[in-house]
Amino acid sequence: MKQLIDMRVVAAEPVSPRCTLLRLAPRQSSSVAELPAPQRGEARGGLLPAAQPGQFAQVRIDGNPHAFLRRPISIHYIDEQAGELWLLVQAVGEGTRTLCNLQAGDSLNVLLPLGHGFCQDIAPGEQVLLCGGGIGVAPLLEYGKWLRQHGAEPTFLLAARTQSDLLQLAHFRRFGEVLTCTDDGSAGFHGLITQHPSLATWQGRVAVCGPMPMMCAMAQLCKQKGLVCEVSLENRMACGLGACLCCVEKTKQGNVCVCAEGPVFNMDELAW
Ligand code: FES
Repeated sequence: MKQLIDMRVVAAEPVSPRCTLLRLAPRQSSSVAELPAPQRGEARGGLLPAAQPGQFAQVRIDGNPHAFLRRPISIHYIDEQAGELWLLVQAVGEGTRTLCNLQAGDSLNVLLPLGHGFCQDIAPGEQVLLCGGGIGVAPLLEYGKWLRQHGAEPTFLLAARTQSDLLQLAHFRRFGEVLTCTDDGSAGFHGLITQHPSLATWQGRVAVCGPMPMMCAMAQLCKQKGLVCEVSLENRMACGLGACLCCVEKTKQGNVCVCAEGPVFNMDELAW
């Protein structure tokens, strides 16, 4: 069920020159819509709603007259024990800059969980390669945790322009092997994510989130190799609820709203 929740900023931690990790805990909650529950989501402790890995939140930007629309932010991680929701935010415009400037104790109003997340029809022992580029790594931490909790074997392949833009590596290592690549060679493999040596022999499922050229290239590669591949699209959004049609993506079944039908799609569904 979607919930509108006032959250308290427990901590706002800079994790790179442009990104901030917001750790949030509910102040109070009120249900705003009786919508279908996540297909295979699990009950969370406290007031945090159930969420599928890959779903997102719409975050209200308070105190900035130039950012009146909510911003879609991936659910980065849910810490059930601490009762915390983590959002990873990159400052790219007015709204996200305001979010990155939040301080511990501030309030944030979030609507979540929204959209459809990554596939959860995974067999124990199944190998899944989670590929993230830049801020696109955000939804992969929660998915990696879910996969590990359900007996699957996630491997993370994380890409960035340079070493300081590789995000949350220590947290990813809690759930699987972490491979990295950078455009400038300052960490890990020097080159594009699609050129990483691990892909030459990879046989398992693949999940991708990052810049559109990267996702298209990864999807193309997976197609050539006959691998199952899901991509998490980052189309521009406004309402986040399937009402304004500003996030439409062309699929083989026609145009769909990414906020409501995605953001995660099997690449075979897309008209790429
Ligand atoms: Fe409004 Fe998707 S953001 S329909």
